[in-house]
Amino acid sequence: MKKYINASFPHLLHGGDYNPDQWQDRPDILAEDMRLMQLANCNAMSVGIFAWAALEPEEGKYDFSFMDKAMDDIYKAGGRVVLATPSGARPAWLSMKYPEVLRTNADGSRNTHGMRHNHCFTSPVYREKVANINRRIAERYKDHPALLVWHISNEYGGRCYCENCKNAFREWLKNKYKTLDALNHAWWTAFWAHTYTDWSQIDPPMDHGEKYTNGLDLDWRRFVSYQTTDFMKNEIAAVREFTPNIPVTTNMMGFYHGLDYRVLAKELDVIANDIYPTWRGTDADIHTAMLTAYTHDLCRTMKHQPFMLMECTPSHVNWHDYNKLKRPGAHELSALQTIAHGGDTVQYFQFRKSRGAGEQFHGAVVDHEGSENTRVFKEVSALGARMKQLDAIVGTKTETRVAILHDWSNKWALDSAQGFQNKNKKLDSVQHRFYEPFWKRGINVDVICPEDDFTKYDLVIAPMLYSVSNAQGEKLAAYVAEGGTLVCTYATAMVDDTTLAHLGGWPGAGLRKVFGIWNEEIDTLYPEDHNTVATDMGNFKAVDYCELIHAEGAAVLGTYQSDFYAGRPAVTVNSYGKGKAYYLAFRDTGDFTDAMMAKLMGELHIVSDFDGELPHGVSAHSRTDGKSVFVFLQNFNNASVCVKTAEKWQTVEKNTPVTGDISLAPFETVILKKAK
Ligand code: GLA
Ligand code: ZN
Repeated sequence: MKKYINASFPHLLHGGDYNPDQWQDRPDILAEDMRLMQLANCNAMSVGIFAWAALEPEEGKYDFSFMDKAMDDIYKAGGRVVLATPSGARPAWLSMKYPEVLRTNADGSRNTHGMRHNHCFTSPVYREKVANINRRIAERYKDHPALLVWHISNEYGGRCYCENCKNAFREWLKNKYKTLDALNHAWWTAFWAHTYTDWSQIDPPMDHGEKYTNGLDLDWRRFVSYQTTDFMKNEIAAVREFTPNIPVTTNMMGFYHGLDYRVLAKELDVIANDIYPTWRGTDADIHTAMLTAYTHDLCRTMKHQPFMLMECTPSHVNWHDYNKLKRPGAHELSALQTIAHGGDTVQYFQFRKSRGAGEQFHGAVVDHEGSENTRVFKEVSALGARMKQLDAIVGTKTETRVAILHDWSNKWALDSAQGFQNKNKKLDSVQHRFYEPFWKRGINVDVICPEDDFTKYDLVIAPMLYSVSNAQGEKLAAYVAEGGTLVCTYATAMVDDTTLAHLGGWPGAGLRKVFGIWNEEIDTLYPEDHNTVATDMGNFKAVDYCELIHAEGAAVLGTYQSDFYAGRPAVTVNSYGKGKAYYLAFRDTGDFTDAMMAKLMGELHIVSDFDGELPHGVSAHSRTDGKSVFVFLQNFNNASVCVKTAEKWQTVEKNTPVTGDISLAPFETVILKKAK
């Protein structure tokens, strides 16, 4: 039932990026670090992330002294190590001797040595050098009791346009399409005489080259995910050779646009994420909390198991426009929010502040001042003490009956489409708009992809699911036929998974009959335009998109009130098999989505595990071990609130009985349990 990150250490992990390689001339500070780590109630340190130059100062010459010491010291101090492979940044000798490892930009220019996260993912030399250093690290520490998790590289991202990468792209395409005819058809290259007659003619999309072939754009993005994953697999294979039982992860960046994280996720044992929300200590935090929760839910859903928060800041960052301090209490609140949504780890960038270079003023557990007497240190330590009391939560799961579909390929296809609102189609904010009604009512939501099993959800919401293959269409149809409730919006199933328009009327891919509608035209409004949609829940403002649909069997729940399509349907529901398919043909400003989702929650009896009504800015998300339900009641307001409950709860930490009025201080979290 429980799923641990590493079953040998069934505790919440708390700690951070720790860089003893930067302090090798200060044994006093290294010793102090261990005292501070214990005082901060930290038990998991990420070591070696950018340490390649220290580990291999010259090609083939290794020095593991700092790492040996860190592994031993951390273990002696009761901690464990999340051990990194160092491929995120390379030593200068490597770039100088093997320039092919340097990334090539779209304009053909090659980067000079410097910065990080900028290597070629295809270069055989880089792959070999990375596998070599990974093997040496794994071989050395394979039996070390501190080794808990492999942290593969750091925040993979970006793309390279060197000849090696272009050739790899062409090979990937050959493998996918088999023939040029098939590729030419899928990309509709007869348009503008772009027909390819040889594979070598295909280049990635670029600003000074091809950029309007949507199918090319989509396949290039898929290839970048594939190639990055392939690079990562090479890294993983090197460490698995020695440590087949140590789980591997890599730190992701939430909904980062550049990589389909689901492709990487398949190769990982655990999902890890880095997140740096702009907590302000104002009402704006309530929106931030909703967005952050949505990202956590994605991380949990990618493997349907607890994830790691590999990086956050205990206070401020150094790269926001305004690097405001987290207000007292806000750190604990945001850290516990991670756990509420299925995270079993809270780690920081970084444990000790670097003395110099680019991140010297980024928040850290230990400041340049160096002691445990700072506000931030004390808050981290108090959080760690609290996390130690939460062993019961570790490995527990999140139960959900609602899912929102997020598919990277769909987002890429939609973004590259020329038409509608060209500059920003706002898929992200539309997903958030559907998520918020559930978040604020304390209802757990999964963020699924087309490959997930839909049948375990009572409600699947797929906003702006523009790109749908015939197979995906069939899967959605089967889900509804078997009793599911599906909600889709304007811009559904307009193209297939290669971006070819579906013929025979939208929504395509067989969904026209499922929704019982035909979407004949899509009207894109200017920002100053609007329409009104009348429903039995009231009148709502329509902005941005109004589709001109025909009901072909569906019941009409809302109609446009003005313009040449006044009186035509804007919201419909169709019974299909044992289920229902809702079509929302217009974009609202949030109030309609909220009312509509509330109506569906009522009809489907989808309720929170917390019985009380939640005031604005208070969330209540839950986890369960099958016997108990654990509810995290969290106040994101910088003001006290009172929540009422009729049930009899106990606090998880002290087993104190709780019922009736629960008062929450600003930024306070109360963790409750009851029998399931
Ligand atoms: C990222 C990186 C870290 C550090 C932080 C700063 O998440 O992985 O190395 O640069 O940002 O916020
Ligand atoms: Zn390359």
